[in-house]
Amino acid sequence: MVENKTISKKTQFSGLSKEFPILEQEVNGYPLVYLDNAATTQKPNSVIRSLEEYYSGFNSNIHRGVHTLANRATDAFEKTRKVAASFINANENELIITKGTTESINLVARTWAEQNLRSGDEILVSASEHHSNIVPWQLLAERKGCQIVKLPITSTGILDLGAFKKILNPRSKLLAINFVSNALGTINPLKEILKLARAYDCTTLVDAAQAAAHIPIDVQELDCDFLAFSGHKMYGPTGVGFLYGKYSILEKMPPFLGGGEMINEVSFDGSTFLDPPLRFEAGTPNIADVIAMKEAFDFLSALEMEDLRAHELELIEYSEARMKEIKGLRPFGTRTEKIALFSFTIDGIHPFDIGQLLDAKGIAVRTGHHCTMPLMSDLEIEGTVRASFGVYNSLQEAKKLWDAVEKIQKKYGGT
Ligand SMILES: Cc1ncc(COP(=O)(O)O)c(C=O)c1O
Repeated sequence: MVENKTISKKTQFSGLSKEFPILEQEVNGYPLVYLDNAATTQKPNSVIRSLEEYYSGFNSNIHRGVHTLANRATDAFEKTRKVAASFINANENELIITKGTTESINLVARTWAEQNLRSGDEILVSASEHHSNIVPWQLLAERKGCQIVKLPITSTGILDLGAFKKILNPRSKLLAINFVSNALGTINPLKEILKLARAYDCTTLVDAAQAAAHIPIDVQELDCDFLAFSGHKMYGPTGVGFLYGKYSILEKMPPFLGGGEMINEVSFDGSTFLDPPLRFEAGTPNIADVIAMKEAFDFLSALEMEDLRAHELELIEYSEARMKEIKGLRPFGTRTEKIALFSFTIDGIHPFDIGQLLDAKGIAVRTGHHCTMPLMSDLEIEGTVRASFGVYNSLQEAKKLWDAVEKIQKKYGGT
């Protein structure tokens, strides 16, 4: 039996939930326990305030105005780029602002890959990828006649390094891999994986959508070619994302979308384009949300990464102990290197029903395939229940979750 004393441990994160007004509510008569952070996180007051300040104080289009408001908006927008770049240890001119991870990956598929991949080239994609890191490559493979090669994962939920070494060959031209799996919560040993790929001159794209709010990212240390992440999964607004690319690669890439903002000169004889990153940012961007995103970076940066990890490890240790006590519970993604994300099934109860029963108690989780249908099919399941924790979730909330899951199992699960 997991002792209650574990629950009384305090971390610097207790009290953080007060910064998030949405968490103050009751759902179905119970205090909300929001455990769907892998889908999207909630937003702190500072982010919400920033949106209001922009629209009530200096709403203007950016990069083209000469007036005071336009300059203020441009400065604030570019400030986010600066902060985002420093968050992952990149240079500002290597940081493209997009709508999200999905757009970032599609940008690479439509530009770099379109220009550099040829018929017969292999695109290596791990079996645990989100659809956003599979479908753009399938579309590209159809256009260019490339082969998609699926990289198997181990039973604990990370890339199978042995198999990867055997698959790598001179035709391997692109590796598309997640830092953290959104369906399993497992952290891939990325440095080692990228090093193996580099030995074959294989360009690397990292999907860091689930990593950015949980583990430090240093693109210099990783030495990846591209890295994509989304603001809304790291306490920022929706509709903001980032693509890092090595400048030496970006500068050779053709534009993604054509239009205003990304051009140098336009005539009916042809057009010339700006240098990166603006070359890849056509049209009016999501100005308000990009500006507010700076507050999310500031919020995360103010938390000590070591404390953040310690907080997650507490949640992991406790949750794993509780999961072992629940009959018929099958956990997925059991590698110790993981974030506080728990994916499981329970014998005899459909994940969707578990999700609904938890919702009736005010506990929000995700159920289904989590946009990883190929992974679910490899695991021979339809889907899982996924409880994913954020910085504001406490051990008390983990206890509420597992108490509720235990009750559901006792009432509806097989004996
Ligand atoms: C690992 C991973 N990659 C990509 C995405 C897509 O992110 P977005 O919808 O913000 O573009 C998600 C979203 O859940 C994800 O978890």
